[in-house]
Parts: sequence; C-alpha cells; structure tokens
Amino acid sequence: MKNLILIDHPLVKRDLTLLRDKRTPSHLFRSILRRTASLMAYEVTHDLKITKVSVVTPLEKTKGYVVTDSIILVPILRAGLGLVGGFVEVLPNARVGHIGMYRDEETLKPVDYYLKFPKQLKKGLVLVLDPMLATGGSAAAAVSVLKKKGAKKIRFISLVAAPEGVRLLARTHPDILIFTCALDRQLNDKGYILPGLGDAGDRIFGTAE
Ligand code: PRP
Ligand code: URA
Repeated sequence: MKNLILIDHPLVKRDLTLLRDKRTPSHLFRSILRRTASLMAYEVTHDLKITKVSVVTPLEKTKGYVVTDSIILVPILRAGLGLVGGFVEVLPNARVGHIGMYRDEETLKPVDYYLKFPKQLKKGLVLVLDPMLATGGSAAAAVSVLKKKGAKKIRFISLVAAPEGVRLLARTHPDILIFTCALDRQLNDKGYILPGLGDAGDRIFGTAE
C-alpha cells in the first residue's frame, strides 16, 4: 500500500506478540508499549534533519550533531498516551499537543472533545500517535484537525493497523506517511481489528470490566 511503512524490527515483533497476548496485565502492557514506542520512534525519525556542531571531549575537539527538526507529538486520547513516554525518551525536546477523540460505539464515527497544540505546530514535524488504526475514522479526523490548525508535515504512527483504516487514511490524506508495526487481517462487525490486541485504551488503563 502506497504511503504505508511497516516497522518490522525483530524486537518490535517480539514486543507486539506480548501486547497481543490477552494474559498480559495492564502494568506490563503499559511498560512493553512504552518500550515498543521508543523502538518505533527510532524508525519513524530515520530521516530527521541534523546539523553539524563541534563538541569538546575530555581529550580534544571533534564534530558532533544536533537535531534541527522541531518535533511535535500529538497523541490521540486516550490510547495514544501510551506511546508518548517511549517517544519522549528518545526525543527529549519534542513538544506534545493533544487531541481528545473517541469513537461513538454505535456509529463508529469519531467525536472530538479536547484540542491543545503548541505554537510550533505549523513549522514542525508532527507525529500523530495512536496504537490502533481501525476504520481510520479517528486518524483521518485527527489529521484534518491538525491541517486546519496549520500543520504541514504530518506522519501517522500506529502499532496495529487494519487494511480498511490504512485505505481510508491514505485516500483522505494522500500526503502523509503512515507507519505501523503490523498490518492485520480485517475488522470485525464492531470495528475491532482482527487479530489485533483488543481495546488498547482499556488494556493500557485497566478499564475493561
Ligand atoms: C480507539 C483507538 C483509536 C480508535 C481507532 O480509541 O485508540 O483512537 O479507537 O478506531 P477507528 O480507526 O475506527 O477510528 P477509542 O475510540 O476506543 O477511544 P479511547 O482511546 O478513549 O478508548
Ligand atoms: N480501537 C481499539 O482499541 N482496538 C481495536 O481493535 C479497534 C479500535
């Protein structure tokens, strides 16, 4: 699929297996997701702009590098929050905006309830974080909101994606890159990804009944 980049590092595959496992409790799910997010951040930023600087070691002066791209992370609440810790671990200067959005359980349509972005949104590289790309409704709506607020360079970062969601997002926003660690088979009739990992928000925050 055009614009889709699969992150298929062996360590990501190992962690995704643990995240899929229904026996993995919330506290482990959170820490594994955080670790996976750092590995994802490494892949997603492979072409980041850097500038040469000089640095003085205890022995002599040599060349070094600083990152010049300004990064803005935008988790989609709630489940996107589970990826933020791992991303800021390797991108300590990143700023974080928030999009509060949930899927209406009947219509599966996204409803936004909270928006807050840093000033740098228009100039920076915006990484939208959400572990699940299912119907693609939330992702497409989130990217539309970001474009309306002036964001120009946007990437969508997911852990698990359904073909339906990738198609919708790519059709609605052909200018963005979509990263995922797994392209799963399909959605079920409730909009859950198969095989997937269940409800990501519930698994992160322990809110399943
Ligand atoms: C989940 C997930 C995505 C959305 C994906 O959130 O984190 O945001 O569903 O589904 P879609 O591609 O069909 O739009 P949910 O709406 O369950 O909200 P939550 O994170 O607050 O639990
Ligand atoms: N949201 C989730 O958390 N999981 C899915 O499988 C689909 C949407």
